[in-house]
Amino acid sequence: MLNTIIAIIVSYLLGSISFSILAARWLKKIDIRDHGSGNAGATNTLRVLGKGPAIGVFLLDIAKGSAGVLLGMWLGEGNAAVEVACGLAAIAGHNWPIYFRFKGGKGIATTIGALVVWAFLPTLVAGIVAILVIALTRYVSLGSMIFAALLPLLVFLFDKDPAFLWGALVVAVLAIYRHRKNIVKLINGTENKLGGGKKGEP
Ligand code: G3P
Repeated sequence: MLNTIIAIIVSYLLGSISFSILAARWLKKIDIRDHGSGNAGATNTLRVLGKGPAIGVFLLDIAKGSAGVLLGMWLGEGNAAVEVACGLAAIAGHNWPIYFRFKGGKGIATTIGALVVWAFLPTLVAGIVAILVIALTRYVSLGSMIFAALLPLLVFLFDKDPAFLWGALVVAVLAIYRHRKNIVKLINGTENKLGGGKKGEP
């Protein structure tokens, strides 16, 4: 039990390392949450800092999700519920980071990192669909939400473990909730398109 609690807390602390906030601080001495969409994530890093930092932030945000689940796998001794709890803790850390006044991102890259370990095939399929949606519409937020919404369905189809299914359901609800402002903008036609605006502008 103690191992499980430690794994969950460490996963949350890992998830709380917001690489977009750190990159913006180091590279431009700004708070990324005051620029672009205001989101502390890879998409806004692309907008505010450019391609190189965005790729770095994306990969590191993925890595912390995977690290959380792997930690759960190790300390939970194969208990799927511990893996799921650690993945969710890492995503919660990304969204509400303890080091940055609990104002973080939307958790998609960290979700990819967590889900790729606990449900590889569903993540791959949902990821391919998301890439197609983004390529066709240029809306990263739309692709992100479709990615997250597909996960429970695909986990149900590919992997019958109830812990992973519950985990994927929570992830989907969380992702849609975190994108609520994007949904309004998509409906109003004011959502940012990939490559649509100038750097540093919404
Ligand atoms: O993963 C975040 C992305 O879906 C939307 O980001 O900055 O356009 O709100 P942003």
